[in-house]
Amino acid sequence: MSNPPLHIVILAAGKGSRMRSQHPKVLHQVAGKSLLGHVIDSAAALAPNKMHVVIGHKKDQVIEAFANHPESAKLQFVEQTEQLGTGHAVTQALPSIPENANVLMLTADVPLIHSDTLTAMVASMQSHTLTVLTAIVDNPFGLGRISRDDTDSVCAIVEEKDASHEQRKITEINSGIICARKAPLAGWLSQIKNTNKQQEYYLTDVVGLAYQAGDPITTLQPANNYEVQGINSRVQLAEVERIYQTSKATELMEAGVTIADPSRIDIRGDVTIGQDTVIDVNVVIQGPTQIGCNVTIAPNCVISDSQIADNVEIHANTVIESARIHSHAQIGPFARLRPGTQLAEKVKIGNFVETKNAQLDAGAKVNHLSYVGDANVGRNTNIGAGVITCNYDGANKHQTTIGNDVFVGSDCQLVAPVTIGDGATIGAGSTITSNVSADTLAISRNKQRELTGWQRPVKNKK
Ligand code: UD1
Ligand code: MG
Repeated sequence: MSNPPLHIVILAAGKGSRMRSQHPKVLHQVAGKSLLGHVIDSAAALAPNKMHVVIGHKKDQVIEAFANHPESAKLQFVEQTEQLGTGHAVTQALPSIPENANVLMLTADVPLIHSDTLTAMVASMQSHTLTVLTAIVDNPFGLGRISRDDTDSVCAIVEEKDASHEQRKITEINSGIICARKAPLAGWLSQIKNTNKQQEYYLTDVVGLAYQAGDPITTLQPANNYEVQGINSRVQLAEVERIYQTSKATELMEAGVTIADPSRIDIRGDVTIGQDTVIDVNVVIQGPTQIGCNVTIAPNCVISDSQIADNVEIHANTVIESARIHSHAQIGPFARLRPGTQLAEKVKIGNFVETKNAQLDAGAKVNHLSYVGDANVGRNTNIGAGVITCNYDGANKHQTTIGNDVFVGSDCQLVAPVTIGDGATIGAGSTITSNVSADTLAISRNKQRELTGWQRPVKNKK
């Protein structure tokens, strides 16, 4: 028998008042990705037929944020015009879900849920009509409590605000993640009422209704409690960020990366790092980024969207964005590699050097205080201190092409478009405005003069 279709409903319509924000709660970020983005990515791993995202508060911002998402073909936004509760929210998605489907309901403010846990929830539908993901926590304050009967079967969920003193002592909580078969779910949802403290239609009331109807209900727990940590405030947002970062750092260390202090590294997006790479403190790496083996990354570096090969040395306070760096390159301290930078093997980029859309061939060196933009720099070429490729004429960008084994003296301006032939030498302090032939010395500075008998000015008397 083929599996029933799987439809996932993600609740994201709420205002998130406790965030005290102008932005929808579900667009706040953990590890550089929105809360809703995390949930969609975990849900997508189950290959559902559709993901129905219930939106309301600032819905246009939410839709726009996912316009180019890789799963956008499977995303269906459903509007909940008034936020009348989580049960009312799920009801909005029901008309476009087939009767024989399994419905997995997620909340967009629980971002660390693993897809394995969700897969287990769906698998439980083979023998149950309703499954609730629960957890036993130290501090259940604010969460729905799992109520069990004499035989220890779950019989209801009671929201904090509606709970009795005794019920508030229960430490088993509702994660907000519930899976059910569509047909009975629709029946229960049609019966829920808003006669509670918050005057909302609670999704959680379906549990009591299913129990009363004698339907087979069960609970599951995630492998790690952090998976069900919800975010209702900025304090919880920061807590979840730390949980995420700690688990990321642990994963990297277990794969052979040395991290000086796992509480002082931030990994955002897809990042892979090879064995024996050593990362010092306060480093931020944003994906997609691939870093090879035996790379050293000194303190305070920010690396985004880049590929870094084996044995690269990155010194302190270096910022690298959309760059490709080959093996044994040395960069920094205080270097800034901007998008389109490509460094071949053994290139050296020193302090206060900025590169942009620049290809440097093997062994090229730019050691101090230079700007190399829209440029090709040949093999073993040396660029002295304070050299500037003047790539912008105020209207358009132009290219500078520098050959192999060139020596550019300090404090030169290379006014693009300009080409410097292999083996050429540019005298220090030159402004180069026309092409330089191979193996020549080009020099454009004024000849030095000496004036004898010259007197220094003296300070006027008051
Ligand atoms: C909910 C659960 C609670 C559970 C907790 C876990 C209910 C009634 N309560 O409480 O049992 O312990 O999650 O985190 O379900 N939303 C809508 N439309 C609405 C209301 C809410 O889409 O009308 C969305 C919100 O955007 C949010 C999610 O549903 O993503 C949960 O709503 P929230 O207000 O955060 O519920 P909790 O108080 O956290
Ligand atoms: Mg919540």
